[in-house]
Amino acid sequence: MALIAKWSPESWRSKPAQQLPVYPDPAALQAVEHRLRRHPPLVFAGEARRLTAALGRVASGKAFLLQGGDCAESFAEFHPDNIRDTFRVLLQMAVVLTYGAALPVVKVGRLAGQFAKPRSSPTETQAGVELPAYRGDMVNGMEFTPAARTPDPERLVQAYSQSAATLNLLRAFAQGGYADLHQVHRWNLGFVARSPQGERYREIADRLSETLDFMEACGLTSETTPQIRETDFFTSHEALLLPFEEAMTRVDSTTGDWYAVSAHMLWIGDRTRQPGGAHVEFLRGVKNPIGMKCGPSLEADELLKLLDILNPENIAGRMTLIARMGADKVHAKLPALVRAVAREGRNVVWSCDPMHGNTIKSANGYKTRPFDRVLEEVRGFFAVHQAEGSYGGGVHLELTGQDVTECIGGAQAITEEKLSDRYHTHCDPRLNASQSLELAFLVAEALKRERGELKRRAGAAS
Ligand code: PEP
Ligand code: CO
Repeated sequence: MALIAKWSPESWRSKPAQQLPVYPDPAALQAVEHRLRRHPPLVFAGEARRLTAALGRVASGKAFLLQGGDCAESFAEFHPDNIRDTFRVLLQMAVVLTYGAALPVVKVGRLAGQFAKPRSSPTETQAGVELPAYRGDMVNGMEFTPAARTPDPERLVQAYSQSAATLNLLRAFAQGGYADLHQVHRWNLGFVARSPQGERYREIADRLSETLDFMEACGLTSETTPQIRETDFFTSHEALLLPFEEAMTRVDSTTGDWYAVSAHMLWIGDRTRQPGGAHVEFLRGVKNPIGMKCGPSLEADELLKLLDILNPENIAGRMTLIARMGADKVHAKLPALVRAVAREGRNVVWSCDPMHGNTIKSANGYKTRPFDRVLEEVRGFFAVHQAEGSYGGGVHLELTGQDVTECIGGAQAITEEKLSDRYHTHCDPRLNASQSLELAFLVAEALKRERGELKRRAGAAS
């Protein structure tokens, strides 16, 4: 057997690293890393283990994963209302999906740490002037000036502080009564009443009302039942900025294992998943549940090699594979990967990111995503899993609870001309609250069909 090289939180430093900024003052970066190492963890190892267990249930088809939030959080948009609105729309979607899948929904936010972005080019040129590309508020500023675009390590501390405050509010929302199922259902009824296509969703909403009434009649109320009053909510981000992640990696005193304590779950982006690269090296050594984006350039043998490195013990819940093929490629590219994973008996969660393969430029120059293409990729993802006898167990979305106009289409029929009305994203276009809920209702319908089909097959086989 090949000797496995020793891992340490800094062993990534000897590997080739894509997408890392070049800091003009390495000593200043080191000083910040040193400070961060003494900052308290944002999450506890025990919570990460609980998420691994929950994702293990997703891997075996007994739960569904909903992961979503901003493409990039920003310092400028830091406001309790924004956090509340994103949390609220995720809860609303989770209730709808719970009904559709008749399964528990594991809720993971792209939140409280999603600040660093991979870019297609290291520089940007405007009117003949070339400056470093914007890499997220954790690295540099978006403004096109030499000062703003210079990577500044102090931004790591600001990102830590914003993550801590965000997480504090999320914990309060999840446990303090805001997430009460009755309240979430009332919000959904409001959506159904207001949405131009609300009638389509009335049946699901009415069934949920009846169920809640029935539970109440049985004595299952917010007062008697914590599961109605409270919810579990986890955080995640792309583990891109390795100096920060290294400083936020600690030994868990209970188990002696290393955990990334910047979020419950971390994922590897499509641009940084090289088997010999620094990001894969870093993530192989932490025990958190991890995700990996699977784009159209990923081949089955490379995927298996990555699973060997990242999950050698084949632990269910450790790996979430986030397919982001694009509506036009999902049927051509996904089946081979799903088949290879099934053939080799690898325990993974398969999740669908219908955002990153469906980005286009509108005629008036906006980066946007057509809602129909997003939907088409989701449908394609479930169809492939159904055809392969595999379980499509989750969705990964860029969304916001705000009423933005960044993706075209949906029941509100956002047109290219309307994109400029409220286009606020710091990076990729997000679904707004209405588009997110509409997607949840449509996925719920698809899941109901998937479950019906699985039951029918099980019945036919027995
Ligand atoms: C993202 O999730 O914002 C992202 C950059 O995705 P990907 O790595 O799949 O391109
Ligand atoms: Co994005």
